[in-house]
Amino acid sequence: MNRKDIVYPFASQESALEIVKAEGSWLYTRDGQKILDAGGGAIVCNVGHARDDVLNAYVEGQREGYVLPPWRSPARTELCERLIHDWLPQGMTRMQFVCSGSEAIETAAKIALQYHAARGDKSRHQMIVRTPSYHGTTLATAALSGHPARRAGIEAALREYPRIDAPYPLRAPAATPKEELSDFYLDQLRACINTIGAEHIAAFVAEPIVGSSGGMIVPPEDYWPGVRTLCDAHGIVLIADEVMTGFARTGAKFALDHWQVRPDILVAGKGLAGGHAPINGVFARSEIGETIEAAGMTVMFHTYSALSGPCGAASKVLDILKREKLIERSAALGAKLMQDLRESLSDIEQVAEVRGRGLLIGIEVVRDRDTLERYAREDAMSGKILAEAMRRDLFFYPGGTGEVRDILCLGPPLNTPASDLDRISGIMRDAILAATSTR
Ligand SMILES: Cc1ncc(COP(=O)(O)O)c(C=O)c1O
Repeated sequence: MNRKDIVYPFASQESALEIVKAEGSWLYTRDGQKILDAGGGAIVCNVGHARDDVLNAYVEGQREGYVLPPWRSPARTELCERLIHDWLPQGMTRMQFVCSGSEAIETAAKIALQYHAARGDKSRHQMIVRTPSYHGTTLATAALSGHPARRAGIEAALREYPRIDAPYPLRAPAATPKEELSDFYLDQLRACINTIGAEHIAAFVAEPIVGSSGGMIVPPEDYWPGVRTLCDAHGIVLIADEVMTGFARTGAKFALDHWQVRPDILVAGKGLAGGHAPINGVFARSEIGETIEAAGMTVMFHTYSALSGPCGAASKVLDILKREKLIERSAALGAKLMQDLRESLSDIEQVAEVRGRGLLIGIEVVRDRDTLERYAREDAMSGKILAEAMRRDLFFYPGGTGEVRDILCLGPPLNTPASDLDRISGIMRDAILAATSTR
């Protein structure tokens, strides 16, 4: 069969690249091009592609065979121990593993509902969510997400949740002084709780730093402590979606650590096996698990949940993150890359902002930096910039959704050599200039 006759993916306007090998921070195409993976795939490859030590740990774990998800296996137990010992906030002892981030968020939402039901509080079935955001692609998680582009064609089947704005300091009303920005956004949450009634609200679901839907938007400093206080005051379960930000990506174990805030349920996993195996974790405070258990409820697993192979791969990745000091490296090299980008892009009129934390960086491109007017959708500007970057052997992860567009996301492997990271700002500059000057 001719390769060109193969239709993949299911539906797409673009022709898919064919990658024949990925190693370290590099992608190799069938045509012989070698591309620096400054997106870490879908911002997932925290320890680099296809490491032998991780792949061996995967195979070794999988040799334990198929063990029913609620049972224990050596690889599964080791991962739990490692997470509790080295990674999870204190008191967060309950965990469930699933394959994808979408399943993990859906599981977290179900756990929050079950927790309230187990306490006899059956009227709490609403969840407050934000826009922009991305929480997954199942019907439930697409409904929680503030991601118009990924709702196309399924809108009618999605439940409407009470929705507020995710903090977006660049585009906050000009009249709001910087030091009042946290209150500005917290007031929306306060008002939403009052309108719906706390007695109906099970959970608040949010990404600590908005990922690719918004382009690494860091909230104002007092926002997260304020959210924690409001959730505590109203008995609302705080679900932190750290699928993208967790496990060292932002220069901390988890992004909420930057504000010393602990969620009630933490969801994380892109960086858990770092692209080597499908595994995401849902972690909850002990009391949440105890309450559900005491009411005789369980949290159902999927057939492929917590396979020993992915658990083994994840243990190895966690070991590497610690041994190679990749949290510290992400913080230090992320700050350096951010500074390089800000300097290198400062005179480009079409760059509105470079933002993020650690090696999770977003660049927002606009038609006019003064008014923040965006390019028209038909201009497909981020696609053009990506094409220019690929021509220069660099991949970044294009982001944005709906009105939030032309967002360029960087999330290279945390162990990318400094000399390779140093090339990113120059290539991004050339790619943005080339794309914006030709339209
Ligand atoms: C913040 C966040 N939540 C959830 C998801 C969904 O994860 P998955 O694609 O593994 O279902 C993603 C994926 O990009 C994400 O970035």
